[in-house]
Amino acid sequence: MQYNCAREMCGIAGYVGHRPAAPVLVDCLQRLEYRGYDSCGIAVVSDAGVFLRRSVGPIAEFREEVLSAAPTGTIGLGHTRWATHGRADLANAHPHASCDGAVLVVHNGVIENAFELRERLVRQGHRFTSDTDSEVVPHLLEQGLTEGLSMDEAVSKLPSQLVGSYAIVAVRQGQDELFVLRKGSPLVVGVGEGEYFPASDIPSFLPYAQRVIYLSEDEPFAIGRSGIRRLQGAGASRPAGPYLEVPEPVSLNVESVSKGSFQHFMIKEIMEQVGTIGRLLESPPATLATASELLRGAQSIKFVGAGTSYHASLYGQFLLATTLHLDSEACVSSEFQFRADALRPGAVVVALSQSGETADTLQAVRIARDRGARVIALVNSEGSSLTRAAEVVIPLRSGPELSVAATKSYTSQLVALTLLVERLSPDPMEGARTALEARDSLLELTSDAARAHIASLAHNLARHSQLLLIGRGGNYVTALEAALKIKEVAGVAAQAFPGGEMKHGPLALVAEGSPVILFYDRSQVDQAELAASELITRGAVIYTVGPQPLRSSSLHVRVHDAGAATAISQIIPMQLLAYELAKLRQLDPDHPKNLAKSVTVL
Ligand code: F6R
Repeated sequence: MQYNCAREMCGIAGYVGHRPAAPVLVDCLQRLEYRGYDSCGIAVVSDAGVFLRRSVGPIAEFREEVLSAAPTGTIGLGHTRWATHGRADLANAHPHASCDGAVLVVHNGVIENAFELRERLVRQGHRFTSDTDSEVVPHLLEQGLTEGLSMDEAVSKLPSQLVGSYAIVAVRQGQDELFVLRKGSPLVVGVGEGEYFPASDIPSFLPYAQRVIYLSEDEPFAIGRSGIRRLQGAGASRPAGPYLEVPEPVSLNVESVSKGSFQHFMIKEIMEQVGTIGRLLESPPATLATASELLRGAQSIKFVGAGTSYHASLYGQFLLATTLHLDSEACVSSEFQFRADALRPGAVVVALSQSGETADTLQAVRIARDRGARVIALVNSEGSSLTRAAEVVIPLRSGPELSVAATKSYTSQLVALTLLVERLSPDPMEGARTALEARDSLLELTSDAARAHIASLAHNLARHSQLLLIGRGGNYVTALEAALKIKEVAGVAAQAFPGGEMKHGPLALVAEGSPVILFYDRSQVDQAELAASELITRGAVIYTVGPQPLRSSSLHVRVHDAGAATAISQIIPMQLLAYELAKLRQLDPDHPKNLAKSVTVL
């Protein structure tokens, strides 16, 4: 049989307590939608039996239908899926059930030996209804129960049966507990009063519970209304029995996970940046001191990150070169494995991530540590896997970022890098001073007038399906990040190039009316004028972002020049542009096509 393994990279949520589970689960899943929104589902177990509903598409569409039909049972689980392999259809939506329908499971991760397990289970008489790897789990549990194991024992056996990464929540009809297990995929438990919320991430349950338990790897647990029990798993390091550790308070507040008066999380998060940058500058993380000492003694420095975090890595490389004349290398996380052989003793790797769960970045960190490198992490999400994998953690503290596109976490990464590099600088106040200047200009850049100006730029660009963005030095980093934002949320083929590269190929893309955005600082105005006239000769229409307009600017966005820190403010109008373009093109900026925020599979 051709078995198309559907790898799961999703959000999971469970509930056991005193409230009807269905509305809680739907609500919690909605706050996890940034992890995927191809399909979703919930299962609630009660005296009335098992209520299982699944749907293709986002949770908002599912909400009405499911809530009108759901029973009032107070234990259940749910899932929102981002399909990486295997179609986003109803059959592949979670929860998955055992043949008798009594065991329900949601899973996030990749079960690498799913094919072998499935073949064996099929030989044992199990019937599969999806092509996901996840579906082996309810069948494995059912097989254990058939062979006379208790649910505790069947769950405890899973770590010895599954190869790969997983966060699993399971429930069995007739049993008043949820069973949870994780390895390499995130799973935390929100703790309320007599109620528990296992979930992929804290924002999911934040309105209900403000204390959290970070589950250790490969230790199975059972969660009931009166507490958590540690099961005796194959990988468990501690004996079975009640879980006695005190839950940790969550530092996030409830407002941080709601849209408030904003239409989308993306615009809310863009507008929050004056505050997030300000807080980081006013109370710099104490770990900057240890991190800078590590860097001071480094024989070589590598930055790793994916997507937007890679662009922040490029900024780190730029800052070290321009302010300290230090050589370093920024590497896309997934490419790090191919450069790891060149790591020498004394290397320091700086890993950047909003979520702290990006599988490529975690893999790069593992490789680096295996080769003896010291690892510093700049992370936004508290308690995430990267915070445990790194030696020194610099928290970005920009609060939950729920829109799929990274905005406020990016500027916090740039500020944290500025503060870190500044500690090594002979003029330790320079970085903070320029970062403050950049922060101050944010008020103007996010004013109503500035937003209206960006909206008119978006109107000029909305009918184009291609866009070129050009910059040099630090401005090239902005061009790259702006292009990524515009691609992601507005679906425009935006490409960034260093100014000097245009004549080495990209000029071929320019035709009559082609829009081009040029980024420059004070020192680059003359060069930018030359580039603009070269582009205009070939028919381009020039839009500019810099301290002053060019002679040929069709529309200019003024950004105060704050030296190297300009990158912090310069990206704001481009985030706004991506947002406005998405709206004009009738796209949902919070839920870009084919994307999920937290990419937890390789
Ligand atoms: C871009 C975006 C992605 C992430 C990338 C890395 O807007 O959101 O490109 O930047 O998936 O994610 P983190 O930073 O969580 O490691």
